[in-house]
Amino acid sequence: MLKEVTATRYITPLREGGSLPGLVEADDLGTYVLKFTGAGQGRKTLVAEVVCGELARRLGLRMPRLVTVELDAVLGLGEPDQQVQELLRSSGGTNLGMDFLSGALGYDPLAFPVTPEEAGRIVWFDALVNNVDRSWRNPNLLVHRGELWLIDHGATMIWHHNWPSVDASANRRYDASDHALARFVPDIAAAAADLAPRVTEELLTEVTAEIPDVWLAGEPGFGTPDDLRRAYARPLLARAAAVHERIDGIPAPARTTGTTGPQESK
Ligand SMILES: Nc1ncnc2c1ncn2[C@@H]1O[C@H](COP(=O)(O)OP(=O)(O)OP(=O)(O)O)[C@@H](O)[C@H]1O
Ligand SMILES: [Mg+2]
Repeated sequence: MLKEVTATRYITPLREGGSLPGLVEADDLGTYVLKFTGAGQGRKTLVAEVVCGELARRLGLRMPRLVTVELDAVLGLGEPDQQVQELLRSSGGTNLGMDFLSGALGYDPLAFPVTPEEAGRIVWFDALVNNVDRSWRNPNLLVHRGELWLIDHGATMIWHHNWPSVDASANRRYDASDHALARFVPDIAAAAADLAPRVTEELLTEVTAEIPDVWLAGEPGFGTPDDLRRAYARPLLARAAAVHERIDGIPAPARTTGTTGPQESK
Protein backbone atom coordinates (compact mmCIF):
# COMPACT_ATOMS: atom_id res chain seq x y z
CA MET A 1 0.00 0.00 0.00
CA LEU A 2 1.21 3.47 -0.84
CA LYS A 3 1.38 5.82 2.10
CA GLU A 4 -1.88 7.79 2.45
CA VAL A 5 -1.85 11.50 3.18
CA THR A 6 -4.52 14.19 3.11
CA ALA A 7 -4.06 17.47 1.27
CA THR A 8 -4.23 20.49 3.54
CA ARG A 9 -3.29 23.26 1.12
CA TYR A 10 -3.16 23.76 -2.63
CA ILE A 11 0.00 25.74 -3.27
CA THR A 12 0.29 26.33 -7.02
CA PRO A 13 -0.22 24.71 -10.42
CA LEU A 14 2.83 23.28 -12.25
CA ARG A 15 2.15 24.81 -15.62
CA GLU A 16 4.85 22.87 -17.49
CA GLY A 17 2.67 19.77 -17.26
CA GLY A 18 -0.06 19.23 -19.83
CA SER A 19 -2.36 17.75 -17.21
CA LEU A 20 -1.83 20.73 -14.91
CA PRO A 21 -0.46 18.87 -11.90
CA GLY A 22 -0.51 20.90 -8.70
CA LEU A 23 1.80 21.36 -5.79
CA VAL A 24 0.11 20.59 -2.47
CA GLU A 25 0.99 20.43 1.18
CA ALA A 26 -0.32 17.47 3.15
CA ASP A 27 -1.11 16.58 6.75
CA ASP A 28 2.31 14.92 7.16
CA LEU A 29 3.84 18.35 6.29
CA GLY A 30 5.21 16.90 3.06
CA THR A 31 5.07 18.79 -0.25
CA TYR A 32 3.77 16.72 -3.14
CA VAL A 33 3.21 17.02 -6.85
CA LEU A 34 -0.45 16.10 -7.17
CA LYS A 35 -1.79 14.27 -10.23
CA PHE A 36 -5.55 14.72 -10.27
CA THR A 37 -8.00 11.89 -10.73
CA GLY A 38 -10.26 14.39 -12.51
CA ALA A 39 -7.64 15.30 -15.16
CA GLY A 40 -7.71 14.18 -18.82
CA GLN A 41 -7.50 10.41 -18.98
CA GLY A 42 -8.25 10.32 -15.28
CA ARG A 43 -7.54 7.31 -13.19
CA LYS A 44 -5.89 5.16 -15.92
CA THR A 45 -3.10 7.69 -16.07
CA LEU A 46 -2.70 7.39 -12.32
CA VAL A 47 -2.66 3.58 -12.49
CA ALA A 48 0.11 3.79 -15.11
CA GLU A 49 2.06 6.15 -12.85
CA VAL A 50 1.84 3.71 -9.96
CA VAL A 51 2.68 0.54 -11.91
CA CYS A 52 5.63 2.07 -13.78
CA GLY A 53 6.90 4.25 -10.96
CA GLU A 54 6.89 1.46 -8.41
CA LEU A 55 8.44 -0.97 -10.91
CA ALA A 56 11.16 1.52 -11.87
CA ARG A 57 12.10 2.09 -8.24
CA ARG A 58 12.29 -1.64 -7.54
CA LEU A 59 14.59 -2.04 -10.55
CA GLY A 60 16.96 0.50 -9.04
CA LEU A 61 16.02 3.50 -11.19
CA ARG A 62 15.67 6.84 -9.40
CA MET A 63 11.98 7.59 -8.99
CA PRO A 64 10.44 9.90 -6.37
CA ARG A 65 8.27 8.20 -3.74
CA LEU A 66 4.57 7.95 -4.55
CA VAL A 67 1.72 8.43 -2.06
CA THR A 68 -2.04 8.66 -2.31
CA VAL A 69 -3.47 12.07 -1.50
CA GLU A 70 -7.01 12.42 -0.21
CA LEU A 71 -8.47 15.65 -1.47
CA ASP A 72 -11.51 17.45 -0.19
CA ALA A 73 -13.04 19.17 -3.20
CA VAL A 74 -13.76 22.26 -1.09
CA LEU A 75 -10.03 23.08 -1.35
CA GLY A 76 -10.92 24.40 -4.81
CA LEU A 77 -13.45 26.94 -3.63
CA GLY A 78 -10.94 29.71 -3.01
CA GLU A 79 -8.95 29.07 -6.17
CA PRO A 80 -9.18 32.02 -8.57
CA ASP A 81 -8.09 30.15 -11.72
CA GLN A 82 -11.17 28.58 -13.32
CA GLN A 83 -9.29 25.61 -14.81
CA VAL A 84 -7.61 24.78 -11.50
CA GLN A 85 -10.86 25.19 -9.62
CA GLU A 86 -12.59 22.69 -11.93
CA LEU A 87 -9.76 20.19 -11.54
CA LEU A 88 -9.91 20.42 -7.77
CA ARG A 89 -13.70 20.19 -7.77
CA SER A 90 -13.73 17.08 -9.98
CA SER A 91 -10.96 15.34 -8.02
CA GLY A 92 -12.47 14.82 -4.59
CA GLY A 93 -11.26 11.52 -3.06
CA THR A 94 -8.07 9.63 -3.86
CA ASN A 95 -5.41 11.28 -6.04
CA LEU A 96 -1.75 10.51 -6.70
CA GLY A 97 1.08 12.39 -5.03
CA MET A 98 4.80 12.32 -5.73
CA ASP A 99 7.57 13.64 -3.51
CA PHE A 100 8.42 17.11 -4.76
CA LEU A 101 12.11 17.31 -5.66
CA SER A 102 12.80 20.86 -4.60
CA GLY A 103 15.19 22.69 -6.90
CA ALA A 104 15.13 19.97 -9.58
CA LEU A 105 15.74 21.08 -13.16
CA GLY A 106 14.21 19.70 -16.31
CA TYR A 107 16.66 17.41 -18.10
CA ASP A 108 18.81 18.86 -20.86
CA PRO A 109 20.87 16.25 -22.75
CA LEU A 110 23.40 18.89 -23.80
CA ALA A 111 24.12 19.88 -20.22
CA PHE A 112 23.98 16.45 -18.58
CA PRO A 113 25.56 13.50 -20.38
CA VAL A 114 24.58 10.03 -19.22
CA THR A 115 26.68 6.84 -19.35
CA PRO A 116 25.71 4.08 -21.83
CA GLU A 117 24.92 1.90 -18.82
CA GLU A 118 22.42 4.31 -17.27
CA ALA A 119 20.94 5.25 -20.65
CA GLY A 120 20.56 1.55 -21.43
CA ARG A 121 18.67 0.86 -18.22
CA ILE A 122 16.26 3.73 -18.77
CA VAL A 123 15.64 2.98 -22.46
CA TRP A 124 15.15 -0.72 -21.66
CA PHE A 125 12.66 0.17 -18.93
CA ASP A 126 10.80 2.58 -21.21
CA ALA A 127 10.60 -0.11 -23.89
CA LEU A 128 9.23 -2.58 -21.35
CA VAL A 129 6.38 -0.28 -20.33
CA ASN A 130 6.07 1.22 -23.82
CA ASN A 131 6.66 4.76 -22.59
CA VAL A 132 5.99 7.21 -25.44
CA ASP A 133 6.73 10.25 -23.28
CA ARG A 134 10.51 10.36 -22.83
CA SER A 135 11.46 12.17 -26.02
CA TRP A 136 14.10 14.88 -26.29
CA ARG A 137 11.21 17.33 -26.75
CA ASN A 138 9.60 16.29 -23.47
CA PRO A 139 12.05 14.11 -21.54
CA ASN A 140 10.11 13.76 -18.28
CA LEU A 141 13.46 13.42 -16.55
CA LEU A 142 14.66 15.71 -13.78
CA VAL A 143 18.14 16.47 -12.52
CA HIS A 144 18.18 16.74 -8.76
CA ARG A 145 21.38 17.12 -6.74
CA GLY A 146 23.43 15.98 -9.71
CA GLU A 147 21.42 12.84 -10.41
CA LEU A 148 18.84 11.85 -12.98
CA TRP A 149 15.28 11.06 -11.79
CA LEU A 150 12.37 9.60 -13.74
CA ILE A 151 8.94 11.23 -13.59
CA ASP A 152 5.66 11.09 -15.50
CA HIS A 153 4.68 7.58 -16.53
CA GLY A 154 1.12 8.45 -17.48
CA ALA A 155 1.62 7.69 -21.20
CA THR A 156 2.70 4.06 -20.93
CA MET A 157 1.17 0.61 -21.36
CA ILE A 158 -1.05 1.67 -24.26
CA TRP A 159 -2.71 -1.75 -24.06
CA HIS A 160 -4.61 -0.77 -20.92
CA HIS A 161 -6.80 1.45 -23.09
CA ASN A 162 -7.97 -1.58 -25.07
CA TRP A 163 -7.76 -4.75 -23.01
CA PRO A 164 -9.21 -7.08 -25.68
CA SER A 165 -6.16 -6.33 -27.87
CA VAL A 166 -3.62 -6.63 -25.07
CA ASP A 167 -1.70 -9.59 -26.52
CA ALA A 168 -1.18 -7.99 -29.92
CA SER A 169 -0.23 -4.58 -28.64
CA ALA A 170 2.05 -5.92 -25.94
CA ASN A 171 4.14 -7.57 -28.65
CA ARG A 172 4.82 -4.28 -30.39
CA ARG A 173 8.25 -2.97 -31.16
CA TYR A 174 9.50 0.13 -29.35
CA ASP A 175 10.78 3.07 -31.38
CA ALA A 176 13.47 4.80 -29.32
CA SER A 177 14.69 7.14 -32.08
CA ASP A 178 13.23 10.20 -30.32
CA HIS A 179 14.20 9.04 -26.84
CA ALA A 180 15.93 11.72 -24.76
CA LEU A 181 18.85 9.35 -24.05
CA ALA A 182 19.17 7.71 -27.49
CA ARG A 183 22.26 9.80 -28.30
CA PHE A 184 24.23 8.26 -25.42
CA VAL A 185 24.53 4.84 -27.13
CA PRO A 186 22.39 3.02 -24.57
CA ASP A 187 23.83 -0.37 -23.62
CA ILE A 188 20.59 -2.27 -24.01
CA ALA A 189 22.20 -5.71 -23.82
CA ALA A 190 23.73 -5.04 -20.40
CA ALA A 191 20.47 -3.57 -19.13
CA ALA A 192 18.48 -6.55 -20.39
CA ALA A 193 20.88 -9.05 -18.85
CA ASP A 194 20.58 -7.35 -15.47
CA LEU A 195 16.97 -6.19 -15.38
CA ALA A 196 14.91 -8.72 -17.34
CA PRO A 197 15.44 -11.59 -14.86
CA ARG A 198 14.32 -9.27 -12.05
CA VAL A 199 10.89 -8.66 -13.62
CA THR A 200 9.25 -11.70 -12.05
CA GLU A 201 5.63 -12.54 -11.37
CA GLU A 202 6.37 -12.01 -7.68
CA LEU A 203 7.77 -8.52 -8.25
CA LEU A 204 4.84 -7.55 -10.47
CA THR A 205 2.36 -8.83 -7.90
CA GLU A 206 4.05 -6.60 -5.34
CA VAL A 207 4.00 -3.62 -7.73
CA THR A 208 0.38 -3.98 -8.81
CA ALA A 209 -0.71 -4.44 -5.19
CA GLU A 210 0.22 -0.75 -4.76
CA ILE A 211 -2.61 0.39 -7.06
CA PRO A 212 -5.52 1.68 -4.97
CA ASP A 213 -8.68 -0.44 -5.49
CA VAL A 214 -10.72 2.66 -6.19
CA TRP A 215 -8.85 3.27 -9.50
CA LEU A 216 -9.43 -0.33 -10.61
CA ALA A 217 -13.10 -0.81 -9.80
CA GLY A 218 -15.65 -1.06 -12.59
CA GLU A 219 -13.30 -1.78 -15.52
CA PRO A 220 -15.44 -3.55 -18.16
CA GLY A 221 -14.55 -7.24 -18.53
CA PHE A 222 -12.96 -7.61 -15.11
CA GLY A 223 -14.52 -8.96 -11.94
CA THR A 224 -12.39 -7.83 -9.04
CA PRO A 225 -9.57 -5.30 -8.73
CA ASP A 226 -7.17 -8.23 -8.35
CA ASP A 227 -8.25 -9.59 -11.76
CA LEU A 228 -7.28 -6.26 -13.26
CA ARG A 229 -4.00 -6.22 -11.31
CA ARG A 230 -3.12 -9.55 -12.91
CA ALA A 231 -3.98 -8.10 -16.31
CA TYR A 232 -1.47 -5.30 -15.71
CA ALA A 233 1.23 -7.75 -14.64
CA ARG A 234 0.83 -10.25 -17.51
CA PRO A 235 2.04 -8.21 -20.53
CA LEU A 236 4.99 -6.82 -18.57
CA LEU A 237 6.03 -10.32 -17.56
CA ALA A 238 5.63 -11.50 -21.17
CA ARG A 239 7.59 -8.55 -22.61
CA ALA A 240 10.51 -8.57 -20.19
CA ALA A 241 12.46 -11.49 -21.65
CA ALA A 242 12.67 -10.27 -25.24
CA VAL A 243 11.89 -6.56 -25.29
CA HIS A 244 15.58 -5.76 -25.91
CA GLU A 245 15.20 -7.40 -29.34
CA ARG A 246 12.33 -5.09 -30.21
CA ILE A 247 13.93 -1.69 -29.66
CA ASP A 248 14.39 0.33 -32.84
CA GLY A 249 16.15 3.58 -33.58
CA ILE A 250 19.20 3.69 -31.32
CA PRO A 251 22.84 3.51 -32.39
CA ALA A 252 24.39 0.06 -32.18
CA PRO A 253 26.92 -0.05 -29.33
CA ALA A 254 30.60 -0.42 -30.18
CA ARG A 255 30.93 -2.92 -27.36
CA THR A 256 28.39 -4.87 -25.34
CA THR A 257 28.77 -6.27 -21.89
CA GLY A 258 25.66 -8.44 -21.73
CA THR A 259 25.34 -12.13 -22.49
CA THR A 260 22.43 -11.74 -24.87
CA GLY A 261 24.49 -10.11 -27.62
CA PRO A 262 24.08 -6.84 -29.47
CA GLN A 263 20.75 -5.98 -31.03
CA GLU A 264 20.35 -4.75 -34.55
CA SER A 265 18.33 -1.56 -34.33
CA LYS A 266 16.69 -1.72 -37.77
N1 LIG B 1 8.50 15.13 -8.33
C1 LIG B 1 8.72 16.33 -8.89
N2 LIG B 1 9.57 17.21 -8.35
C2 LIG B 1 9.80 18.43 -8.92
N3 LIG B 1 9.19 18.85 -10.03
C3 LIG B 1 8.31 18.02 -10.63
C4 LIG B 1 8.04 16.71 -10.10
N4 LIG B 1 7.12 16.11 -10.88
C5 LIG B 1 6.84 17.00 -11.85
N5 LIG B 1 7.56 18.14 -11.72
C6 LIG B 1 7.50 19.32 -12.60
O1 LIG B 1 6.19 19.42 -13.13
C7 LIG B 1 6.20 19.26 -14.54
C8 LIG B 1 4.98 18.48 -14.98
O2 LIG B 1 5.00 17.19 -14.41
P1 LIG B 1 4.59 15.92 -15.28
O3 LIG B 1 5.47 15.81 -16.47
O4 LIG B 1 4.56 14.75 -14.37
O5 LIG B 1 3.10 16.36 -15.70
P2 LIG B 1 2.20 15.99 -16.95
O6 LIG B 1 1.01 16.86 -16.90
O7 LIG B 1 1.99 14.53 -16.99
O8 LIG B 1 3.13 16.43 -18.14
P3 LIG B 1 3.08 16.19 -19.70
O9 LIG B 1 2.89 17.56 -20.25
O10 LIG B 1 4.47 15.67 -19.96
O11 LIG B 1 2.01 15.21 -19.99
C9 LIG B 1 7.53 18.57 -14.84
O12 LIG B 1 7.99 18.84 -16.13
C10 LIG B 1 8.44 19.16 -13.78
O13 LIG B 1 8.88 20.44 -14.17
MG1 LIG C 1 5.47 15.55 -18.30
